[in-house]
Amino acid sequence: MDWGLKNRLSRIIKSDGKTVMLAVDHGYFLGPTTGLEDAGKTVKPLLSYADALMPTRGIVRTSVDPATDTPIVLRVSGGNSVLEEDLSNEGLTVSMEDAIRLNAAAVAISIYVGSPNQKETLLNLTRLIDKGHRYGIPVLAVTAVGKNMGRDTRYLALSCRIAAELGAHFVKTYYCDGFEKVVKTCPVPLVMAGGKKLPELEALELTYNAIKRGAAGVDMGRNIFQSDAPVAMIQAVRAIVHDNATPQRAYDIYNSIKAASKRGKKSKLKGVTASKQELSKH
Ligand code: 5RP
Repeated sequence: MDWGLKNRLSRIIKSDGKTVMLAVDHGYFLGPTTGLEDAGKTVKPLLSYADALMPTRGIVRTSVDPATDTPIVLRVSGGNSVLEEDLSNEGLTVSMEDAIRLNAAAVAISIYVGSPNQKETLLNLTRLIDKGHRYGIPVLAVTAVGKNMGRDTRYLALSCRIAAELGAHFVKTYYCDGFEKVVKTCPVPLVMAGGKKLPELEALELTYNAIKRGAAGVDMGRNIFQSDAPVAMIQAVRAIVHDNATPQRAYDIYNSIKAASKRGKKSKLKGVTASKQELSKH
């Protein structure tokens, strides 16, 4: 690996070998996803807690503070929409030059192994990797599962291994029974996608299980930004990924930050009411 590529990857996967990536790219095929209707408002309080942010270029340009230090893992595949039965018809949506213009630390592309568009999505991955090598930009392969595709060990191990064999620098996949086999047979770092919103404790257990079984971290979206308390949730996830917290300890962290922020909001409100009363005296 070239120095520039290694340097970019080290901004995403920290010195402990772990990362908490925040995925906010859902709109590229789902449109205005719950929790991302106003992506800028959602991202702002979470950004400093994320080791990396995974948005589309539209969201970067409209909704992310350009002064941020948080590295961007730019989603560069798309062309499909949730209205189609088969989601696998994706192409490249961003040139490497534009990714560089946006100062992306890495680019991300979905692959659909076993789908009608398997070959095209895999060749898009290899084209992207070739360009990434030219400029020192790492490539994240996302093993998309589509609407009708399985999520078992055999399928995910196959997809992750193919992605790594074709040259992906890191891979994102789903948790499954036998996850350790998926990790062991994938020679590059593997981050876990969060999936559908779960109750907070269950999402923290999922995170814990993935880390215990060898994941290099998470690239989590809905289980953070659709939480009742997203800022508390991302800190709880961080406690597991970076500080080896148990799910229960992380859940306690979640509850205490959530409670403190409610108290903070209440006292702010009280402050406003008090100053309004003060004003009305004059
Ligand atoms: C879809 C993606 C999304 O970014 C990611 O999977 C969504 O994150 P989450 O499932 O945690 O909401 O890559 O292929």
